[in-house]
Amino acid sequence: MKKKSPVPTASQLRPFSSALLDGPERAAARAMLYPVGFKAEDFKKPLIGVASTWSDVTPCNMHIDDLALAAEAGVNGNGGKAIVFNTITVSDGISNGNEGMKYSLVSREVIADSIETVVGCEGMDGYLAIGGCDKNMPGALIAMARMNRPAVFVYGGTILPGLLKAPHSPNDGKEIDIVSVFEAIGQHAAGKVSDAELHAVECCAIPGPGACGGMYTANSMASAIEALGMSLPNSSAQNAISRAKLEDCRRAGAAVVDMLRKGIKPRDILTRKAFENAITTVIALGGSTNCVLHLLAIARAAEVRLSIDDFTRIGKRVPVLADLRPSGTYSMSALVAIGGIRPLMKTLLDAGLLHGDCLTVTGETMAETLAGVKPYPPGQKIIYPLDQPIKKDSHLVIFYGNLAPEGAVGKITGKEGSRFEGRAIVFQGEEKALHAILDGTVKAGHVVVIRGEGPKGGPGMREMLSPTSAIMGKGLGQDVALLTDGRFSGGSHGFVVGHVTPEAYVGGPIALVKNGDKIVIDSIKRTLTLAVPARELAKRKQAWKKPRPNYTRGVLAKFAAHVTSASQGAVTDLDLKL
Ligand code: FES
Repeated sequence: MKKKSPVPTASQLRPFSSALLDGPERAAARAMLYPVGFKAEDFKKPLIGVASTWSDVTPCNMHIDDLALAAEAGVNGNGGKAIVFNTITVSDGISNGNEGMKYSLVSREVIADSIETVVGCEGMDGYLAIGGCDKNMPGALIAMARMNRPAVFVYGGTILPGLLKAPHSPNDGKEIDIVSVFEAIGQHAAGKVSDAELHAVECCAIPGPGACGGMYTANSMASAIEALGMSLPNSSAQNAISRAKLEDCRRAGAAVVDMLRKGIKPRDILTRKAFENAITTVIALGGSTNCVLHLLAIARAAEVRLSIDDFTRIGKRVPVLADLRPSGTYSMSALVAIGGIRPLMKTLLDAGLLHGDCLTVTGETMAETLAGVKPYPPGQKIIYPLDQPIKKDSHLVIFYGNLAPEGAVGKITGKEGSRFEGRAIVFQGEEKALHAILDGTVKAGHVVVIRGEGPKGGPGMREMLSPTSAIMGKGLGQDVALLTDGRFSGGSHGFVVGHVTPEAYVGGPIALVKNGDKIVIDSIKRTLTLAVPARELAKRKQAWKKPRPNYTRGVLAKFAAHVTSASQGAVTDLDLKL
């Protein structure tokens, strides 16, 4: 275990706020804070930020104002003085399949920058961040890793499943979620679902607040963050609307103040071993490909050496054990009901697959926090035994080959098979591909290649949830593969490979693929091969011209100018030492 930072003295409990608020010359700063609720004695307490991602933009975050108030009470009840502030959030569930989705990954960077900006500007001695949607969670962690002030992450919690009310459908009463809606669109296009049933699915899928309810990106990242040690035990597996979640927030507020007292900082926790624990947990849960991107980005912010090849190394020995949506059967709230991810983590620890000596925000090691965890109830079917896994190695497959010399990321659960050989059908951008899938142009045996969607080219690396769901909805899940320099939603499944690097915009081989080219995706050998002779590819490369940028102003242009490749986490985090 990495040594803890030295324990601070009483005056060191306010390392940043004292310079901002103490002494006669800082009277103006104090004057500004009385109207927001400060009393004279509060200026002697550590100043703790509560970064709230509350917003009515999306159900994922619509309840977070209440959670922020609980966290504020936890800080104030443990000798700190809390200030609640907001950052932005966007919703992938709403913007997926639309031009607006190009802002999604960008929002991760904006959120990290905005939290850093407020915490830095307002002299906060520590903070907690409450996130409930895909990008605000890694965004918060990037800020924590960069700033290295005592900090705890709180997950906003998972949504409950919707119940379909469609009396004339055989699916009446079925549990559904947001991915059910995306897939119903494909089924509707295939004539398998009526207008009325599509409308019923649309109306019933989201019953209230909380993050998308399968092991999609939000629940995957919440689990990864808990395994990193940056949230309190069990924070990742609570329903958004529950007493447990409110209590988690209150305890997290208190925990930040305790971190200050104990001298614990995020980089004491965010070690290479902690990232290995996160990768292991995500694999066992069958989590999202976005975890590859986000964990690389957080590690870079923490100055921890981590590469996509670490996912391969760890993935060879860690099995997939969770039967959770999208590839599996159950919702996150079903996992919450049997004990969340802690019993699974205990199993992994006992099998030597987790590092027990990693520090957590509690001040205890991971092994200490797991010591009293009881096994799942007998007869449960969600988490498979270690010796009877769903898949004996990782579903997150890092591919290399002449189509992806710098790597690509696939989500191969085995249900789709382990090898796909087909003919390319190429699209510049997601929309054209979606139309071709829905109108029947895409047929069995095709490898759908969607390019121009990389971090720089899109820009913003859109998620291909609409095309992958349409493929599923059309019943082509076993017969069509999809390849992109964009990325996937945690809700995507099927034979899909994304994050292809170098991306098309910078002249990567994916830019050279033509309709009809043979492509072989081999998940056992982890190879991605464009079966075109090297001489022909060299000829195509010579004829290739760099496309004009899609955006020349604003935040998308700024992102495109700075972003690294997907294999490096697609970050805009400048490190002038590098
Ligand atoms: Fe927010 Fe899915 S759109 S968690």
